[in-house]
Amino acid sequence: MSDNKSNNTTETSLMSRIVSLCKRRGFIYPASEIYGGLNGFWDFGPLGTQLKNNLRDAWWKSMVECPPIGPDGKPLSIVGIDTSIIQHPKTWEASGHVGGFSDPMQTCRVCKKLFRADHIEDMLREAPWVIDLAETLVVSAYDLNVTVCTDKVINWLQRKGKKLAPGLAALKEQKPEFNKSITFLELLNALAYKTTPHSTLHTPHSLLPCPNCGGDLTEPRQFNLMFESRVGPVEDDSGKVYLRPETAQGIFLQYKNVLDTSRVKPPFGVAQVGKSFRNEVTPRNFVFRTREFEQMEMEFFVPPEDGMKWYEFWVQERLRWWEEQGVAKNKLYRHEIADEDRAFYSAATADIEYLYPFTDPNFGELEGVAYRTDYDLTQHQKFSGVNLEYIDQETKNRYIPHVIEPASGLTRGVLVLLCEGYRYDEQRASPEWLKIKPSLAPIKAGIFPLVNKDGMPEVAEKLYMDLRKSMICQFDAKQSIGKRYARMDEAGTPFCVTIDGDTLKDSTVTIRNRDTAQQERVSIDTVKEYLNVKCKM
Ligand code: GAP
Repeated sequence: MSDNKSNNTTETSLMSRIVSLCKRRGFIYPASEIYGGLNGFWDFGPLGTQLKNNLRDAWWKSMVECPPIGPDGKPLSIVGIDTSIIQHPKTWEASGHVGGFSDPMQTCRVCKKLFRADHIEDMLREAPWVIDLAETLVVSAYDLNVTVCTDKVINWLQRKGKKLAPGLAALKEQKPEFNKSITFLELLNALAYKTTPHSTLHTPHSLLPCPNCGGDLTEPRQFNLMFESRVGPVEDDSGKVYLRPETAQGIFLQYKNVLDTSRVKPPFGVAQVGKSFRNEVTPRNFVFRTREFEQMEMEFFVPPEDGMKWYEFWVQERLRWWEEQGVAKNKLYRHEIADEDRAFYSAATADIEYLYPFTDPNFGELEGVAYRTDYDLTQHQKFSGVNLEYIDQETKNRYIPHVIEPASGLTRGVLVLLCEGYRYDEQRASPEWLKIKPSLAPIKAGIFPLVNKDGMPEVAEKLYMDLRKSMICQFDAKQSIGKRYARMDEAGTPFCVTIDGDTLKDSTVTIRNRDTAQQERVSIDTVKEYLNVKCKM
């Protein structure tokens, strides 16, 4: 069986296989692991850092070095900048982050754990006690609206409930009573709150039990996601600053300087890549949602009347770009955000979503493309008192440009490449291997002498010394050739060059293709050109 990602695995174990491959091969490690780790923080190892840099460089190239051609056939003008992580605190008042960048949180009254209110339903579906209870009732934990008969519940409470979900209020009753026919969601509710289901349920979200212990939860309270720090030696609030929760605002703060110094005029873009920090309430799913992460954001400034045209252009362009990075079209989804769910200042927003193993059959966000109108520049003009209008030199028109923002996660993008590239094939020397586009692969080629004698190592080393000047490649002479191929497959290396007995006779080598496992014989003199061409793809 080949190219089958789900071979004998559930989707959950697929994700844990990806996480363990990442650790084993040095893509991603838990941060501070020797101290027990720190929730929401991950470190990129040698292969992961190179993969991340390659994805970042591909984005930078497509935005800044070689931007796309616009709808009118003219090349777009986009410049890159690199702004501070810590900005003047007024930045975040103007942007709305101080007042509004918060998540609704609920605390369990029993186990005291904190949860993001809008994540509780998903967490419940994966909670061991909910899955166990669902299995007892022969329903699916995923279908919270299915009607269940509760006869078996009392038995479950006595046998497993105490251990799996000690916070359940129903456990404290001698013999709890339940309606005979209620939905699974209402049952969970009744177990945690001892309520008569139908009378107290306002919305399904209002009274969900604690995913950890089944206990009852407080009402949602707002929790600001920005990390605070302090500038200077004074210990009071006068030096209070924030670590940026997005790279975008640094671009707005420098918009006028860029305009005045770079000979750009609307429509034009300013791009930035860098770290962002959010004190996420429930960091989860590996590097999908972390507390420190990297973003790739571009603010595209346009005349107000052209906003919708550019919005549509950028949504299409970003979908196309992710496909170009090797993400299958049918794994990407354009999710147009409904009016009532959008930020109040946004005229249109689309999320570009990906079919992650942990969201399957649903899609999860990879990138957002937002038409932010003139909101940010108007706010910064108001809070700073600096005029941020653009004056068109030909028409003498003055206006605050409108902004289209494609905002992508770099670290989340790496996760997408890993999920997309992961393959399981028992027929291969390494059943687990990574199909990563050659231009993004961390190592481009393995260089192997077939055996460690007869002059082969010398020829291989000479070739390696030449190739390493222009690409990352690895010389490997240890263990069997099969094991060496396997190591490279796991690292996502697209090519392996082997120097064998024939090389010494006719100066040819074999090049093995990772995806097909097929080999072709080429002259040793053409290897560099061959790899240089293929690894640009
Ligand atoms: N400037 C707009 C902005 O920051 P966002 O949707 O909050 O929009 C953009 O973030 C992208 O950044 C997301 O689509 C996601 O890829 C990434 N991102 C956001 N929060 C993240 C987190 N906690 N961990 C990893 N990536 C995150």
